[in-house]
Amino acid sequence: MRIAIIGTGYVGLTTGVCLAYVGHEVQCLDTDTAKIAALKSGRTPIYEPFLEELLADAAPRIRFTTSYEEAIPGADVVFIAVGTPPSPGGGPDLQYLRLASQSIGAHLDHEFTVVVNKSTVPIGSGNWVDSLIREAYETAKGKRPAGCFSVASNPEFLREGSGLHDSLYPDRVVVGSDDPKSLDTLYALYRPMLDQSFTAPTYLPRPEALAAVPLIATDLASAELIKYAANAFLALKISYINEISQLAERVGADIAQVAKGIGLDARIGMRFLHAGIGWGGSCFGKDTAALVSTAAEYSLDMPIVKAAREVNRRQRDVVVEKLLSALRILKGRTIGLLGLAFKPNTDDLREAPAIEIAKKLIERGCKVRVHDPVAMERFRREYPGIDVILCDSPEKVAENADAVVLVTEWPQYSDLDWEAIAKTMRTPILLDGRNVLDAARLRGIGFRYIGMGTVEPAAHLDVLVKA
Ligand code: UDX
Repeated sequence: MRIAIIGTGYVGLTTGVCLAYVGHEVQCLDTDTAKIAALKSGRTPIYEPFLEELLADAAPRIRFTTSYEEAIPGADVVFIAVGTPPSPGGGPDLQYLRLASQSIGAHLDHEFTVVVNKSTVPIGSGNWVDSLIREAYETAKGKRPAGCFSVASNPEFLREGSGLHDSLYPDRVVVGSDDPKSLDTLYALYRPMLDQSFTAPTYLPRPEALAAVPLIATDLASAELIKYAANAFLALKISYINEISQLAERVGADIAQVAKGIGLDARIGMRFLHAGIGWGGSCFGKDTAALVSTAAEYSLDMPIVKAAREVNRRQRDVVVEKLLSALRILKGRTIGLLGLAFKPNTDDLREAPAIEIAKKLIERGCKVRVHDPVAMERFRREYPGIDVILCDSPEKVAENADAVVLVTEWPQYSDLDWEAIAKTMRTPILLDGRNVLDAARLRGIGFRYIGMGTVEPAAHLDVLVKA
């Protein structure tokens, strides 16, 4: 099939490369000429494991362009995967969605094209996109579209950092449209993923148990709501365990054991029960806010989703409170942050806890030193106003620091020479914001190890704090 993808961000590019890999002819469009130039020469503008490898393997079937005239006519499916960043008012900014829809409408030229909303858009946007395309088509062609297109929703569930794996081997594919013809087209499009009939790349092996992937075909509004409901549920699962972790600390329980004990109940499940600093990223914050605001438009309050947001906000404060309680005074202290990206294996800094924590510490008079294996360049570009010291190694972050906070659980941070690091710190205080480090070993080395919802043995509560 011939596919056009508008937007080469995390979702658009991952989708495009995967669809080309499984055999479709794909044109990826972006209005950013620098991005398209980079992609044409095989370089990817985002960091996502194995993206460059898969792009090279899919190269014969994937092209990049800045021109709607090149991408849209003749396409069987057009994906809209443009950004919907938060607007100053809190809701998503839909200007890119509007522009993409109008440009698609002006260039549609095929007997039937399915236009798919892949961006996370407010519930009801499918109808809005439909009317924008219709108007632009009529203006450009001077006639009605007469059934030559229909709009569908195909929400994306990929996680950054494992986006290609999630796209090739999804738990399910959701497609929603009020037009059965477009559901048939999307079924044909996703067939290789549904049947798992493609040859798996060596670097992204197929999970052993995966034989087929379920397809959920719904009406437009249900597909749009599924995306929000799924993200809000995952977000509240994390906030739930973080709330329990607060109580665990107070009663002397260990949150990792509590999470295992409840997660092994198949009705609850182990995943997304990892307590820590709280969620970040482009989806959970934005989608829970959008859900609350959509509900408000229908005079509906959503106290559960609101509470999940509040608990998540509180987790950032908990980090500062823990440092305050360990160091007594924060003013003039040097705090090292390990990790900037909102999670490992990405350079994405949207709603990254590190940024909020750095700001809070700076406000309290701390000097903040930071390191991240891949996100420092992006941080330098996107956050020039945050006055932190960027260090080119984790060891430099710790030098003369009063405390180090592990903010992003990059695997390489677990393997550091912590013994050597402890010797270079003013006070060996380590706050493991993700509960991933070996507490017993670190305590053995001489660290005061502080976790999120973990028990601190009494002997470690009195580490010498230099005034
Ligand atoms: C999420 C959804 O998982 C994905 O389905 C959707 O399409 C987009 O949003 P993503 O934001 O890429 O994906 O990352 P995810 O792996 O879900 O993690 C989100 C945040 O939650 C991260 O900051 C992560 O550190 C945090 N998290 C996750 C926890 O704090 N605890 C957990 O147990 C799991």
